[in-house]
Amino acid sequence: MLGGFRSWIRRRLQRNADDAEDDLDDEDDEERDHGALVRKGEQVTLRQHVPQNREAFQRWYADPEIANLLRHDLEPLTDWQSRGYFDSFILPSSARGTCFAIHARKGKRLLGTTAITDRSRTGDTNSALFRIVIGEKDAWGHGYGTEATRLVMDEAFDTLGLDEVRLEVFSHNARAIAAYERVGFEVTGEHVEWVSRRQTELRVIEMRLTREAFLEASGDRQPGKRGSASREKRSRPERQADRVERKLAHERRRTVRREKQERKRDRGHNSANPGPSVASTD
Ligand SMILES: CC(C)(COP(=O)(O)OP(=O)(O)OC[C@H]1O[C@@H](n2cnc3c(N)ncnc32)[C@H](O)[C@@H]1OP(=O)(O)O)[C@@H](O)C(=O)NCCC(=O)NCCS
Repeated sequence: MLGGFRSWIRRRLQRNADDAEDDLDDEDDEERDHGALVRKGEQVTLRQHVPQNREAFQRWYADPEIANLLRHDLEPLTDWQSRGYFDSFILPSSARGTCFAIHARKGKRLLGTTAITDRSRTGDTNSALFRIVIGEKDAWGHGYGTEATRLVMDEAFDTLGLDEVRLEVFSHNARAIAAYERVGFEVTGEHVEWVSRRQTELRVIEMRLTREAFLEASGDRQPGKRGSASREKRSRPERQADRVERKLAHERRRTVRREKQERKRDRGHNSANPGPSVASTD
């Protein structure tokens, strides 16, 4: 019976090792298609940008309605400008952990992009600017921007070690201002810019969020769960080997426990009934 049990364990361990490899393949496919996970919220996730995001990015930045909320000259970017911006700024800063793709958690649809830029230090204070665009307009007003902002603030204060985050927003962008206030940003000032192409003035609101104000505004909220891209950087083979080893160790512990239970059951059975043992199901 013991021989049969051992071969069952061997088959089981092999199957679990195969399953673990399959899981890793799935994770690799997901990382390749959608980018490595940085932070997970309830509705959205932050991921690293991948080259496949370029097309959507260029569509967002070519949209006049978005340009009117986003750009100081209020003009959409040309195809050439947005391609250069994505390739020379978005992809590299995303790899460095300061720019993120925003995805719906369910279905993983790419919704927008967000970044921490212009990091600086004044005295003891580390600060930076925050930027965000939910480029898919049908996704506006569903709470995604507010949650994505909170997840970026988790990264800003926990991972990047910032003390405060600042931003600028046009006074006509009521939706953005409402989202920022909900996260805890406060107005610190405003200025006026002249847009010569349009012969118009722009009122720009300045806002700031400190780590303390963020924690206070967050109440009982738990920070977004960190993903693989936000953790200690190790090579992919190292991480894969580690995950396979963890899964196998877990399986070995379960098998040893089960073996012990089997032996205990056998002993109990033999002492109550010294006749031939019950046939194993192997
Ligand atoms: C600004 C932006 C990130 C906000 O994200 P969002 O997912 O649309 O916003 P949310 O649903 O999380 O929150 C919107 C808030 O504005 C309120 N709101 C929605 N529509 C509004 C409107 N037309 N006018 C005023 N407030 C509005 C909502 O009630 C909500 O506030 P509440 O949570 O206090 O109720 C997103 O709309 C966007 O990217 N817009 C285009 C680019 C842009 O403006 N970027 C910011 C540049 S500074």
